[in-house]
Amino acid sequence: MKNRIEHLKKSKNAVILAHYYTPNEIQDIADCTGDSFYLAKAARQSTADIIVFCGVSFMGESAKILNPGKKVLMPDPSADCPMAHMVKPGLIQEMRETYEDLAVVCYINSTAELKCQSDVCVTSSNAVKITRALPNKHIFFIPDRNLGSYVAAQVPEKHIILNDGYCPVHMTITAAQVLAAKEKHPTALVLSHPECAADVLAHSDYIGSTADLIRYAKESAVRRFIVCTEDGVLFRLRAENPEKYFYFPDPRPCCPDMKQNTLERILSVLENEEGAIEVNEEVCRQALIPLNRMLELAK
Ligand code: 13P
Ligand code: SF4
Repeated sequence: MKNRIEHLKKSKNAVILAHYYTPNEIQDIADCTGDSFYLAKAARQSTADIIVFCGVSFMGESAKILNPGKKVLMPDPSADCPMAHMVKPGLIQEMRETYEDLAVVCYINSTAELKCQSDVCVTSSNAVKITRALPNKHIFFIPDRNLGSYVAAQVPEKHIILNDGYCPVHMTITAAQVLAAKEKHPTALVLSHPECAADVLAHSDYIGSTADLIRYAKESAVRRFIVCTEDGVLFRLRAENPEKYFYFPDPRPCCPDMKQNTLERILSVLENEEGAIEVNEEVCRQALIPLNRMLELAK
């Protein structure tokens, strides 16, 4: 199957982008593996004719918006991020009417329609930097309340209004699980993704995006880590650090949507080129504005 995928990739000038949460065998064959920010930049810069995006729908959609001339295929277009939809209709407008000087900061884990109503997009790797750089005092941070409250703690000079969205995968991690893991592995450092709840972050030694956590583990002199994020990151952590030990909260966090990406589905979309991601032209035009602003402010 890998040989057939490789052959089709070459003959059709296709590239495979994969998030760190996808299954190991996909990360293994991908041309580019990364966190949401890295993959958005890779999609924008790609010169391939076809981008096969292994992730969830907001990622494929963002790739299409950032590089509309390309054919963007997803192994399973039904793979979706529940958090991407967690903003009540009308709430953004209500906030804009309440605060004259409001910036709507939109985590990239959101639908294209939500991006259209936002001033700037962010990912977990640049949310603090970008929020701090905005001239506005009042910020409505959508959809993730956990990333929003983490940003609020780092940028106390802003008034950050939180929205009631969350990642159902990171929210399965509890402080009690982290404490139990620490008791079993007392010398381990706790690395957490900011989508985790505040009481989990409070027990963490380092907080960052998936790429930040992987970088930290590699650069650290410490050999044991408790990893509070989706278990797909283990593939890269192990590959880069064969001499180190990685533990997860019990049960291990696993995103069922990310795991809908399979080699069989990659082969099938490359063969048939069916189900290409389409984004309405006007939505594309409007959603590109906050995405471009993110790329600019993150520099
Ligand atoms: P990052 O890729 O920014 O680490 O975010 C993780 C995530 O949940 C993607 O869906
Ligand atoms: Fe969405 Fe959470 Fe899955 Fe990321 S891990 S895609 S935020 S449900």
